[in-house]
Amino acid sequence: MTSTLPPPEAAGWKRARIAQRTLRTDRWWSGPAWTVLGLTAFLVYGLARALQQDHYWVADYHYLTPFYSPCLAGQCVEEAAVFGRLPWDFPWFLPFAVVSLPFLLLFRLTCYYYRKAYYRSFWQSPTACAVREPHGRYTGETRFPLVLQNLHRYFFYIAFGIALLNTYDALVALFHGHNGGFGIGVGNLVLLTNVVLLWCYTLSCHSCRHVIGGRLRSFSRSPARYRMWTAVSKMNTRHMLFAWVTLATLVLTDLYVALVASGTLTDLRLLN
Ligand code: FES
Repeated sequence: MTSTLPPPEAAGWKRARIAQRTLRTDRWWSGPAWTVLGLTAFLVYGLARALQQDHYWVADYHYLTPFYSPCLAGQCVEEAAVFGRLPWDFPWFLPFAVVSLPFLLLFRLTCYYYRKAYYRSFWQSPTACAVREPHGRYTGETRFPLVLQNLHRYFFYIAFGIALLNTYDALVALFHGHNGGFGIGVGNLVLLTNVVLLWCYTLSCHSCRHVIGGRLRSFSRSPARYRMWTAVSKMNTRHMLFAWVTLATLVLTDLYVALVASGTLTDLRLLN
């Protein structure tokens, strides 16, 4: 059969020689659409909470929302600043959360999975397999600003440190029950679940996999690293799942702390 389409060079096409944007008849747009909704909702919530500058700390049980950890500003509640406060107040336009939230966002923004997700949904490059993208040229991650995605490994180190801080916060809260001793409330379970899942996301990162198993000539000479790399590689296959689950658990954890801190909700105590 002879094609009625002009030659690709004449039409300026460099890819598929079809007039339609795509021949796909399935709901290929639903994945990118859900991604836009999910990421936008998280960003709006995170920004609103960062700007609120309140209800981040439950004094009775030492619950600190992960969004505000570490709390270093001079205005932070003294007990919430487990690593001490800076000797000056943050100016009004700088949220307390500026210490960690931007790095956590950059860690996620440069994450290999999220890149795929938002390249498809926001950047439309490409929107989906076999769907023509609106861009005329494809330069990958070789030009500014996308070349900055290579900083991901450095954000991994920072996120690793922040995950350690969140873990410390969750463990310290266990020793602030009603009588100042060991105690468990729903809030403790929420904080602990959040850090366990955060570790799943952080350790399943591709950069973590490289840190553990990269630059080795022979695995047989480093059996401990091989075992760790194998474990991390298994987790890595679920990285997308952890990426979405932790987005939800971060919001739910922060929301729980905010509701208890504001007096809207009473923390149910299971022990002491
Ligand atoms: Fe997703 Fe590193 S690849 S966090």
